[in-house]
This record gives sequence, C-alpha cells and structure tokens, in this order.
Amino acid sequence: MDIVVYESLYGNTAAVAREIAAGLGEDARAMPTSEATPDVVAAARLVVAGAPVHALSLPTAKSRESARAKPQGHERMAADLGHVAMREWLASLPRGARLGAAFDTRVKGPLGHGAATAIATTLAADGYTLLDEPHGFTVHMHTSASTPGALLAAGEREAARAWGERLRAAAAALA
Ligand SMILES: Cc1cc2nc3c(=O)[nH]c(=O)nc-3n(C[C@H](O)[C@H](O)[C@H](O)COP(=O)(O)O)c2cc1C
Repeated sequence: MDIVVYESLYGNTAAVAREIAAGLGEDARAMPTSEATPDVVAAARLVVAGAPVHALSLPTAKSRESARAKPQGHERMAADLGHVAMREWLASLPRGARLGAAFDTRVKGPLGHGAATAIATTLAADGYTLLDEPHGFTVHMHTSASTPGALLAAGEREAARAWGERLRAAAAALA
C-alpha cells in the first residue's frame, strides 16, 4: 500500500493529501499522522508525508498553540489539534528501504518554505528513497469561508492529483 500522511489544522493539507492519494491510484490511502502508526508505515511501499508551513518550517508546539487563537473564516472554524504533529511523527518514523516524498502547504512569497524540505531530510536520513523534490502547494493567508480546505489556491487540488500521478510513474520506473 502507498500512504499519504498529513498534519492539517484547517483541512488544507488534508485536502491536498487526498488528491495526491487519488493520483497515486487505488492502492493509496490518505491518513492523519495518528493513523499512520509504525505498523502501518512498515507495511507501506511508498510514504508521502505533508504538513503546513508554520514560521518557515514544520509546525511546533508553540505555533500549533498559536493557531488555537486563529479560527478560520466568518464562522470561526477552530484549528484541529487532535492529531500528532508531523515533527513528532517523524521522530518515531520506522527506518527502512521504502520510497518517500514530501510536500507542504504554504502562502506565496518568502515565508513559504521549509516544511517539505524538513520532512524530506528526515525521510532520506531514515533510509527512504525520495521520488521527487520536496513539493509546495499554495494557500491563501486568509479566507472568509469556514470550511476545511477553503484556503487552497485555485488549481492546487488538480496540481496535487497530477503530482500523485507523477509519483506513481516514478515509483513504477524504479520497480
Ligand atoms: C501559526 C501559523 C504560522 C504560519 N506561518 C507560516 C509561514 O511561515 N509561512 C507560510 O507560508 N505560511 C504560514 N502559515 C500559513 C499556513 O501555511 C496555512 O495555515 C496552512 O498551509 C494551512 O494548512 P492546514 O489547513 O492543513 O493547516 C502559518 C499559519 C499559522 C496558523
């Protein structure tokens, strides 16, 4: 199985993860960090992992806490802090000769860097063969909508699905 593991506070990284899984094909599943237990990871062929950029890198306990004070949109949708942070999940990632890829969601401009690169560095250090460069998907800083995924810029769902298809082809080329 291929898994697309995500940390997502307002549902945007989760929406990207689901599109990547759809692009990867029937044998792929998107899941939050808490569901991607070491056993699930150990059984995977490909592990794609993604998180939002917070303060130029992976979310920290402090940045997650500050998101608590930033509900999204007019209806004030609360940040979902119910899953393990990507940073913590990576710290207990099983090592192994698996395939990997990393992505993040970020705003356009100089602030939007770092989370995907940090994930890719850990995956590579833990023995994963990276199928592509770390990949970023663009979100808006604000939205008036309070629905999960409402920050995603136009075209990013399609771009995520296309990236999943590219990862699938890259994995097949290595088989
Ligand atoms: C506390 C906090 C800090 C953030 N810092 C950055 C940043 O440094 N660079 C950036 O591009 N986006 C930043 N953002 C915007 C997030 O990237 C955006 O909220 C995220 O991609 C939404 O994804 P999610 O719904 O999966 O959490 C920040 C957001 C929060 C809540």
